[in-house]
Amino acid sequence: MNQNDYKDQFVWIIGASSGIGLALAQELSARGAILALTARRKPELEKLKADLGGRHKVFALDLTDARATLLTAQAICAAFGRIDRIIFLAAAYAPMKMDSLDITLVKGIVDINLIGAFNLAHAVLPIFKTQKSRGQFALCGSVAGYIGLPYGQPYSATKAAIINLAETLYAEFGDTLDIKLISPGFVRTQLTDKNNFHMPMIIEPEQAAKEIAHGLMSQRFEIHFPKKFIFMLKILRSLPYALSLRLTRIIKT
Ligand SMILES: NC(=O)c1ccc[n+]([C@@H]2O[C@H](COP(=O)([O-])OP(=O)(O)OC[C@H]3O[C@@H](n4cnc5c(N)ncnc54)[C@H](OP(=O)(O)O)[C@@H]3O)[C@@H](O)[C@H]2O)c1
Repeated sequence: MNQNDYKDQFVWIIGASSGIGLALAQELSARGAILALTARRKPELEKLKADLGGRHKVFALDLTDARATLLTAQAICAAFGRIDRIIFLAAAYAPMKMDSLDITLVKGIVDINLIGAFNLAHAVLPIFKTQKSRGQFALCGSVAGYIGLPYGQPYSATKAAIINLAETLYAEFGDTLDIKLISPGFVRTQLTDKNNFHMPMIIEPEQAAKEIAHGLMSQRFEIHFPKKFIFMLKILRSLPYALSLRLTRIIKT
């Protein structure tokens, strides 16, 4: 690790109150970044800020509120003078079977994972436009969005949409902005604690944070890890439907 490779960079982490976002805040703070810490749970963010020390600031926000997202983005820009990197990690997950959907929960998950991403893009793209320096906008998808697997909805559909959204952002802004897609495999967090099945090649959030910190500095569009797991799913995704769909049905049993 280069202790100072993020020195004095202003980084906005959305989803910093737990899991991968919290670990990323610790990692980037150790590497010199100045952070805007966002999520809904303000006490967790305040504790993180106190633990990290330094010049970090807390901006509690419910990303499903478009106006609040716009105002928060403007407030961060005013407080820091510029935003170098924006890392969207907020998400909700509740695995469901398609024949027993909780439709209120479905709406809530789509609201956070997908509408939240649009609220953020709507708020930050004008800010990036006014900044002279080339900023970075990173969206967290998931391997769950690569191909429709059993029992992962509606989370996996929102993650497929995030992959698509990141691709569009790259197509529209890739020449002026550094657009990144983060694609983790299984990471041990409160999100995956809900799973009652074996999670192959699961890693700790601290390791995920190191992968992300490294990847954000790279030229690559997609930051994916762990490599072996990703490789297998990318192969599955690239197969003709006649084969891949047969395999996803086997996973179900
Ligand atoms: N863990 C995995 O295996 C895995 C695998 C692939 C992808 N991912 C992705 O990695 C990212 C981080 O997940 P995680 O595993 O670290 O889960 P996590 O610990 O549950 O973190 C989710 C974060 O999102 C925030 N959040 C949720 N709703 C929000 C809202 N409406 N407004 C603002 N913030 C909100 C949460 O904070 P508050 O509750 O305080 O708002 C929390 O900080 C997610 O995008 C997830 O889909 C995770």
